[in-house]
This record gives sequence, structure tokens and C-alpha cells, in this order.
Amino acid sequence: MKAIQQYTVIRKSETLIAEAENWEEIIAFIRTKYVKVLWVIDKKVRPLIPLDSHDTILEIDGGDKSKSFAGFESLVKALADMELDRTGHIVAVGGGSISDLVGYVASVYLRGISFSIIPSTLLSLIDASMGGKNGINYVGKKNQLGTIYQPSTIIYIPELIAHLPIDELADGFAEIIKYGLILDQGLFAKLEESNLEKIIGNQVRFSEIINSCIIHKSNIIKEDPFEYDLRRILNYGHTIGHAIESIYGLSHGKAVGLGMYFSAKLSEIIYGSELQLAKKIRQILPAYHLPIRLEVFSANDIFEKIISDKKRENDNIHFVLLEKIGRAHVEKIPMDRLMEYLNIAEREKWMC
Ligand SMILES: NC(=O)c1ccc[n+]([C@@H]2O[C@H](COP(=O)([O-])OP(=O)(O)OC[C@H]3O[C@@H](n4cnc5c(N)ncnc54)[C@H](O)[C@@H]3O)[C@@H](O)[C@H]2O)c1
Repeated sequence: MKAIQQYTVIRKSETLIAEAENWEEIIAFIRTKYVKVLWVIDKKVRPLIPLDSHDTILEIDGGDKSKSFAGFESLVKALADMELDRTGHIVAVGGGSISDLVGYVASVYLRGISFSIIPSTLLSLIDASMGGKNGINYVGKKNQLGTIYQPSTIIYIPELIAHLPIDELADGFAEIIKYGLILDQGLFAKLEESNLEKIIGNQVRFSEIINSCIIHKSNIIKEDPFEYDLRRILNYGHTIGHAIESIYGLSHGKAVGLGMYFSAKLSEIIYGSELQLAKKIRQILPAYHLPIRLEVFSANDIFEKIISDKKRENDNIHFVLLEKIGRAHVEKIPMDRLMEYLNIAEREKWMC
């Protein structure tokens, strides 16, 4: 073999994350920056947004139903109908399901057009909107089709986030707890001393916590945008969490909360039981309206789901464990060993 040339492509990509006081400020920003825009908006949020008849809007249902081939097709059709060219722009307004769908379409339509995200849930603000991972579900499996493609802007309205229903906030707090567990012992300690109601009751404190999560995630993405290494730690609780979400129909955050508990039990087995990690997680979850139990836990069903997980590599899976609060580590665990651990969890009723 004779090499002719070897080259590296560096794609320029910049994401601005900003706070806005109201919708008018966001709309004015988008209108100044882009000429032709498709607004893709979660139906539940649409009544809040003062767009007018000059704006092109596609209203869709929030939730995973829209993260599908059908959702993909209707969005591509809307873009084609308005003859959006490569200077066009899409704005996703909604939770993670909307930004996952929009990000995926933006990355493939005309080989990539720019998009912005206005997160309307806490989960999407501190997690899903950042980092460029997107996708749709396929044949009952989460995020089977997707790309990594960064948004140009993420803008949020603190008022909107603070007034979300408790259940929606709880989903976001699961990810906030995760940042504490994997990266920030101080944040975890603050969360342990408080609860969901107290934190959202103090807007300054709530914003500080949100901003620290934004900084944590964006620092990791800058370092490892394509999840070759460091970024994997953000998947803490997600291997089991995604399986629980798909099988038992729990929301993302609630399933991740249980996944974090499982992973802490496993960390104790692997790194030593004196860590008391699982006990701490079991204590903190209810304070943030997150469940600590499932009605059923089937090791076989969970294992079957994990077989299709993107974190699996042949006979091993990249599994995130905690060495201690604030420090995570990625271990390659053989799949047959993981099955043994799942069997222990079922037998010892870790989650029932
Ligand atoms: N790309 C990533 O890195 C990433 C990370 C985490 C989660 N996700 C994905 O995000 C999705 C979950 O996202 P989510 O929890 O943000 O919500 P979602 O988009 O699934 O919406 C959940 C529900 O909340 C409603 N909703 C949205 N905004 C609301 C508001 N302001 N007030 C009241 N109701 C509102 C929606 O209509 C829907 O019924 C999953 O599909 C998950 O796979 C992606």
C-alpha cells in the first residue's frame, strides 16, 4: 500500500449559550440573525410564544413519539415546502425530544444547516441541548439513528424553567445529581442539604446550580466532542437508565436516577463497599421527587436491551462507575459479567 495523502479536517463550530428575560428578546435575536427560519415548537409551549403570521411554524407533540421516522419525515417536508436553502435556520423550542429530532434533521438536510435550541425543560437545558448528540428512535430502540452536530445557539428563559411542573423538574434534577456524583463533590453536598422545592424557591441559587451544570457539560464537550474518552463519564446511570426507560416506560430522568443507584451498587462491589455511595443516592433521590423502586426488575429484559446499547463494543460494555463522589471512571465490563451483576440485582432486590 502506498499512501498518497493524509489529512485532518477540523470543522469550525461555535455554540453560544445565553439567558434571556423573555420570548420577545429571543425572537428579536433570531430575526436579526437569520432571514429564513422554521420554528419547530412543542405544542404545549406554543401558546407562550408571541410569534406572528410572518413566521413559519411547525407544531409537534413533545415526547418520544416525535423522535421517529414519521417525525423526521414531517420535519424534512416542512423544510422542503418552504424551500429552505443552506442559509436557512431551524429553531427547536421544547424538551430533549424536540431538540434531538431537530438536531438530527438539521445535520442531514442539505448536508447540514444551522439550528438553535430554546430548551423548555430543565433536562434539556442542562443536558440534552448541549453537546450536539441527536437522533431518533428506531424499532423500539432509543437513538438508533443520529449524529453529533452542534447547535449554534442555546437560549433559555429562567422564569420558564422555574415554573415547570414538579415532575418535569424532577427529571432535570436527576441529571443535576449526576453532575455532582461524577464531577462536583461540592454540588452533591449542596444538593444533599436541600431539596427540589427549596432550590427552585430561590431563583439565584437555582440559576447558580444550572450554570454550574452548563459549565461542567460544556467543558467536557470541548475536550471530547465525539465521545472517544472523557465524555463517556456523562453516561453515568444511563446504560441501565435507558434500558429501564424503554422497558418500563419511565421518563428519562427517573430511569437515570435508578440507573445511577444500580451503578453505585456496582461501584461498591468493584471498588469497595465502604464507599456508601448507593446509600447516599437512595437518600437523595426522593428529595428530588425521583423514585427509588421499580415494581418489577427483570435482569434478562434489561440485558436484552443493553445488547443494542451504543456503549457496547463486541463482548464488553463501557460502564461508568464511581470511585467516590465527584470522581467517575469508565470500566470495560464483559457482557457476561454484567449479566451476573444484573442477576445479583434481581435476586437481592436492589430496586424492588
Ligand atoms: N441529546 C442528548 O444528549 C440527550 C440527553 C438527555 C436526554 N435526551 C432525550 O431527551 C428526551 C427527554 O427530554 P425532556 O425530558 O426534556 O422532555 P420531552 O421533550 O420528552 O418532553 C416531555 C414532556 O414535557 C412536555 N413539555 C415540554 N416543555 C414543557 C413545558 N415548558 N411545560 C410543560 N410541559 C412541557 C412535553 O410536551 C412532553 O409531554 C428523551 O428523548 C431523551 O432521549 C437527549
